[in-house]
Amino acid sequence: MGKYVITGGSRLSGEVPISGAKNAVLPVLAALPLLKEASICNVPFLSDVANTIEILENIGVKITTEGSVIRSETGIVRPVIDNSLSCKMRSSVLFLGSLLSACGEAEISYPGGCALGARPVDMHIWAMKMLGAKINTDDNVIRCEAKRLKGANLHLPIQSVGVTENIILASAMAEGTTIIDNAAREPEICNLCDFLNMCGADITGHGTKRIKIKGVSELHPCSVAIIPDRIEAATYMIMAAATGGELFIKNVNTDHMRVICAMLRKTGCIIKEYNKTIYIEAPQRIYSIPYISTAPYPYFPTDVQPQIMALMSTAQGQSVIKENIFSGRYKHGDELNKMGADITIKDNRTFITTGVRSLVGANVNAWDLRGGAALIIAGLCAEGITVVNNKEYVERGYESPVSKIRNIGGKIRAL
Ligand code: UD1
Repeated sequence: MGKYVITGGSRLSGEVPISGAKNAVLPVLAALPLLKEASICNVPFLSDVANTIEILENIGVKITTEGSVIRSETGIVRPVIDNSLSCKMRSSVLFLGSLLSACGEAEISYPGGCALGARPVDMHIWAMKMLGAKINTDDNVIRCEAKRLKGANLHLPIQSVGVTENIILASAMAEGTTIIDNAAREPEICNLCDFLNMCGADITGHGTKRIKIKGVSELHPCSVAIIPDRIEAATYMIMAAATGGELFIKNVNTDHMRVICAMLRKTGCIIKEYNKTIYIEAPQRIYSIPYISTAPYPYFPTDVQPQIMALMSTAQGQSVIKENIFSGRYKHGDELNKMGADITIKDNRTFITTGVRSLVGANVNAWDLRGGAALIIAGLCAEGITVVNNKEYVERGYESPVSKIRNIGGKIRAL
């Protein structure tokens, strides 16, 4: 595994261009077996994207890449994803819906992904059963079969992003109408629905808790642009806040950034929103936010919880952060404490952060993607040198982090 070496203390300033969203491109790529041809632009260059392309090529979808554009041509699809590929990414489970719909069968080894605690796939399996699939889950492999899926009414017990997307992928060409109640409302789901609608699907209500999908008999080729990555944008805004910096965050959808802007304004940062750009100017030392709690969109995202914890660790005052989505998203707290932070972790879900004047450089470990981003933020504002091990986690979801950070004055190199 590689590492980042960071020399802290530089005030970040300048412009950061935001890439296409990881969590939007992955479900769009999973839709490709349903389409003879497609073209996707604003694709970020990430290891999760490279792994998904490997899955696509392995099952019979030909991919050509030119800069940030991907074109696909689908031949005869082999609906099997082996363990060697599915173990690399949790989003491989999204192929369940599209392969079942495209081929009438799917065989996927249980998916991997960031270790954020128990990440079951029970709701994905339940949803496919509700749409008429026969399922067998022996030998750590999910085997599904359905000649043609049938529309159904599904009420999700938890607002799950992946399950909402899987149902959409499975039912776009199913017989009849599917209703998803308590659907997740993330913008990335809307990106997928807009894409499928441009291909001839009949999906309404995306962006609300009730999505209606009228099955169509075929989808036609088309192109789509991936939306900007709101989590990447939030990460750079927090970097500015942590270093007393001043940044222009370019190519963002400001509507998707409301909760982050509101939160960072509470810390004393000046934030201005322009068309597709956010300007952030941080005071020398920010104020703490007394209570932060994660929840599905449009509320504060779990994917920004580690980064905001890094920020709160040097704020003036105390902050309580509550993680409500993932039971195992806490290990970055221990790593931040190695850098001199004062974070008490209760029941692995509640973090009490008392801001210290300054963090000190240390040798720390990224245990997952966003935890790694939090440690980079901490390293940039700490005194001395920080080594963040396991940089591969960060590369799963951030495009060119080293060059983007260096361009705004951060001292970071990859080894
Ligand atoms: C997606 C995002 C991830 C983000 C998460 C929550 C992608 C590729 N990943 O992950 O970055 O952190 O949404 O915003 O888009 N659950 C079950 N059973 C299931 C499925 C989920 O119990 O079958 C639970 C999960 O353990 C979790 C909750 O539902 O507690 C929400 O997770 P979910 O929205 O499904 O996350 P992902 O789609 O995996």
